[in-house]
Amino acid sequence: MATNRARVKSVEESIRDTEEPDHQLKKNLSALDLTVFGVGVIIGTGIFVLTGEVAKTDSGPAVAISFVIAGIVCGLAAICYAEFASTVPVAGSAYTFSYATLGELVAWIIGWDLVLELALGAATVAVGWSGYLNQLLGDLGIPLPTSIAGEEARFNIPAMFIVAVMTGVLILGIKLSSRVTSVIVAIKVAIVLMVIGVGIFYVKAANYTPFIPPAEPSETGSGLTAPLIQTLFGFAPSTFGVGGILAGAAIVFFAFIGFDIVATAAEETKDPKRDLPRGIIGSLVICTVLYVAVSLVVVGMQKYTELSTSAPLADAFRSVGLPFFSGLISVGALAGLTSVVMILMLGQSRVLFAMSRDHLLPPTLGAVHPRYGTPYKITVITGIVVAVLAGLIPLSTLAELVNIGTLFAFVLVSYAVIRLRKTRPDLHRSFRVPLVPLLPWLSVAASIYLMLNLPGETWLRFVIWMLLGVALYFVYGRRNSRFSVKGAAERKAAGQQAGGER
Ligand code: ALA
Repeated sequence: MATNRARVKSVEESIRDTEEPDHQLKKNLSALDLTVFGVGVIIGTGIFVLTGEVAKTDSGPAVAISFVIAGIVCGLAAICYAEFASTVPVAGSAYTFSYATLGELVAWIIGWDLVLELALGAATVAVGWSGYLNQLLGDLGIPLPTSIAGEEARFNIPAMFIVAVMTGVLILGIKLSSRVTSVIVAIKVAIVLMVIGVGIFYVKAANYTPFIPPAEPSETGSGLTAPLIQTLFGFAPSTFGVGGILAGAAIVFFAFIGFDIVATAAEETKDPKRDLPRGIIGSLVICTVLYVAVSLVVVGMQKYTELSTSAPLADAFRSVGLPFFSGLISVGALAGLTSVVMILMLGQSRVLFAMSRDHLLPPTLGAVHPRYGTPYKITVITGIVVAVLAGLIPLSTLAELVNIGTLFAFVLVSYAVIRLRKTRPDLHRSFRVPLVPLLPWLSVAASIYLMLNLPGETWLRFVIWMLLGVALYFVYGRRNSRFSVKGAAERKAAGQQAGGER
């Protein structure tokens, strides 16, 4: 049996696989489509919900600094993703990049890890969508019972509904999806610009003092609920101050998740080598600027201690006597979260698609629909899993699990850039990370540092999930993958059969 070291799928092999007739995706996305996709998935629960919570409990008005820190960590990772996506334009993003550099086991681990980011992330946002829907229905005087809608529902019907609708859209084809996304993104960006443009006239300087509230002992943060870094270094758990800004950055990081998903659409891009880096970096820059502006405006409109934790943007407008704008923001948030759910599921189905093409998952799952050109079986499975998660589990606290999973993927991708430069210096890279290896190493360190600012219990859940994944690899993936003896025999037999049919 091949050793793990040998189980590295060459870049050429990855690209060749995309040309298999049964596993080919339609190529019709441009750089603009990708940027719209990026903004569509990036702006969501993070800015619409977490801003209030983080300002109130971690950072105070300095939540804007938390956004800047998280944005820098993402920027470092984004340029690493951009180099990879421009060199290996194959569906599957971090999964494919790892396969081409660090080998099959790491690729599997990352594929498994991405479920945390994508499926769990989609479910989390679907639950948030249900919350906004119910708030809007409440404003109209027809709220649904909280047992079937909202953040605490036991059987969350709206969350399942939005997942089902988005699954249908994805099966019908990516071009349709990107058209739907463009409309939604336009509404969402208009609302965000409105928050900045109108809100700025209601900012009171007094609300900015103290900008960084002094550190104070945390009431609940002890043991497993404290950031791991505080526990590791024996600090007494505290909130606010510099530690609060960093802990806040680890949470608002959620708001940036999504730029990496642009890379999962590589195979569906017309000119991936040119357009992918533009899409990834462009969408990240746009969102970072908007986030910093929105958070500064919101904490300037309302004292951080009074911000709402469920709908802070809308509530800030209500607090200054502008209820009409508050309603508009709720509609915008609802539209905005819709596209986030859809694109997270799109990313998930593309990663699973790439894994099944490599036989790490059953290959029949990766079949592409003859008419719509989309991996419909995998999309349906993704939809069912996300719907069940969103319908049955109250996911608010699990956003942290999504963050740790995503940051872990950033660590591996950044490291893989350094590796691939050494192992394959010959490859054409239309986008190159400057200052290698310094910048990728900085990216690795920055992502690990943010991970350490997440609670100990998040780490525990993460480690359990990853161990489960490694066990599965040895039970299924390793034996059936294209690199296994059995897999090689199957490929040979398939080749002979195809030869005989000709
Ligand atoms: N970045 C996305 C959001 O904020 C996941 O909802």
